[in-house]
Amino acid sequence: MTERQPKPIQRPDLGGPFPEHVAIIMDGNGRWAQRRALRRVLGHKEGIASVREITTSCAEMGVKSLTLYAFSVENWKRPRAEIRFLMGLLEEFMVAERPTLMDNDVRLACIGRLDDLPEASLRALRETEELTASNRGMTLRLALSYGSRSEIADGVRRIAEDARAGRLDPADVDEETLRGYLYDPDTPDPDLLIRTAGEMRISNFLLWQISYAEFYVADVCWPEFRRPQLMEALRAYASRQRKFGGLIQDAPDEAPASKKAERTA
Ligand code: FPP
Repeated sequence: MTERQPKPIQRPDLGGPFPEHVAIIMDGNGRWAQRRALRRVLGHKEGIASVREITTSCAEMGVKSLTLYAFSVENWKRPRAEIRFLMGLLEEFMVAERPTLMDNDVRLACIGRLDDLPEASLRALRETEELTASNRGMTLRLALSYGSRSEIADGVRRIAEDARAGRLDPADVDEETLRGYLYDPDTPDPDLLIRTAGEMRISNFLLWQISYAEFYVADVCWPEFRRPQLMEALRAYASRQRKFGGLIQDAPDEAPASKKAERTA
């Protein structure tokens, strides 16, 4: 069998840094539909087209990880019919998008309390994860039945279990230890967090991981968030200066305090 050649990456020059990891809170599907006098669930259906376009665009441009907030732990409180529709859509997506994921060298991974998902959706998801496991271009991470507080609580519970069993010394627990107990410790933190539909909320999404992410809010609803809107977000990111609590790198005569002390010592 001949090996598939990965597509060449076409990274746009936006005059500044490019994010390795983009995370998106896909909001406004219901509003998009209601404004058109359609049933809310048709907004979710249209949202799939945005998922496809944003996934392929990010993969083409060389984003390494794209994390999409597809279903939160709180979303289980929605009407049963809407949940059923969303889970059906998820299952359909898992099957229908396989060729697109393969063509674009995208690996699928999921985070969240996946055991809460209906069996058929979970099976389709596991099969797609397996099929795409050796793709290396980009990882598409879907957050499903995901909540950041439950992720942290799940991690802390496992830390406590390991400490009780003597596998972990409580004195050694630091930030990196906790990171190691989160759902996907090996993926670097998001650089850019996008939310659609104009809302200025985090909604329990990746609270630990977004500590230093740049935040971008798009006014359009998720079904209208396509490549041009993604480019706007990437342009905004390119113009930001990230300091991670320090100072801007090229500020003159501003060595870190420890170095300064050495110089004057
Ligand atoms: C928020 O819109 C969106 C969701 C709760 C679900 C997002 C799901 C999709 C985009 C489709 C399924 C995705 C995959 C990957 C299979 P909302 O309903 O809260 O909108 P509203 O705030 O306008 O009511």
